[in-house]
Amino acid sequence: ATTGHSDSSNFFKAYVILSMTLVWTGYTITVKYTRSRKAADEMYSSTTVVLLSEVVKMSISVAMLFYTYGCKFTEFKHCLSKYYFGQPRELAKMSVPSIAYAIQNNLDFVALSNLDPGVYQVTTQLKVVTTAVFMVLFLGRRFSRTRWFAILLLFAGVALVQLNSVLSNSSSQSSVKGAHKENYLLGIIAVLCTCVTAGFAGVYFEKMLKDGGSTPFWVRNLQMYSCGVISATCGMLMAESSDVFVKGFFYGYDEKVIAIIGLLSVGGVYISLVMKHLDNLHKSFASAVSILLVVLLSFFIFDGITIGFFFLAGAATVCGAVLLYNSVPENTSSESRPGIMI
Ligand code: C5P
Repeated sequence: ATTGHSDSSNFFKAYVILSMTLVWTGYTITVKYTRSRKAADEMYSSTTVVLLSEVVKMSISVAMLFYTYGCKFTEFKHCLSKYYFGQPRELAKMSVPSIAYAIQNNLDFVALSNLDPGVYQVTTQLKVVTTAVFMVLFLGRRFSRTRWFAILLLFAGVALVQLNSVLSNSSSQSSVKGAHKENYLLGIIAVLCTCVTAGFAGVYFEKMLKDGGSTPFWVRNLQMYSCGVISATCGMLMAESSDVFVKGFFYGYDEKVIAIIGLLSVGGVYISLVMKHLDNLHKSFASAVSILLVVLLSFFIFDGITIGFFFLAGAATVCGAVLLYNSVPENTSSESRPGIMI
């Protein structure tokens, strides 16, 4: 009975998921830190950061591919020409999640400009649920009732934790509170769409890794990130081209921005490893734990963050969800069905 998980050791799985959690925590804290400390006119452009991180992820994939072929150039070259240059259809297939991630970035922008950040942060957690639904549709996974309950509990827990941040922010930034908000309905529709595109992109990628033929893992990543470079370039040109051309690509860069690019790139690569060696739901659980860590660390680093009832209740709920999900052995839930073909 297969659940689609690879046979890697539990130790390696623990390493991958722990690293993903810590790297994303470091990334979020560094972004928050630079966004809160830098003056608006010294701010770096986030679309250049996303573009450079796609380039770094591409380079990491090439380096890892070279490494998996024992650093033998002839075999590495043969693999690239067979699986990357020789299979444009596969490359086209990988442009789908890459474009979905690009749409997600743009919709995030629409959502954030039309909604209160707190409402955005709470609603966006629904992607835990959409991810599970897509896993049923595309990967043929079936979850026992206990696991569905754990998934809903995870959503409720993270939403509660985010409510803690919303309340901290609204008491510390009351001047911003009444800021002009455009179109609430548009914002909510955008955020709901991002939950769909995020769940879809992640599950599509996992499907390509697990049922997508013999293409090596690092070539899959390379296909995804090369499309990512193109979509990130389009995103930069559409959203911030005038700023980037006037001020320059590297405007506002310092060592912390370089660290953000590094963390975003390594965090993305760890996410792909979690999808390969575990699955998308484990990724959702790891993201939830990372959100808890971010709030806890923010309490020590930033002013105006309080740890209140919502955080404690949310953290307890998230821990309960993690324990509950893992209390049911993987193979006892009803077995995999074929799922939608790509
Ligand atoms: O919002 P969500 O948790 O779905 O974001 C997933 C992140 O993981 C995105 O930033 C995406 O670029 C990244 N990712 C990656 N490599 C993959 C899959 C996802 O860098 N193979």
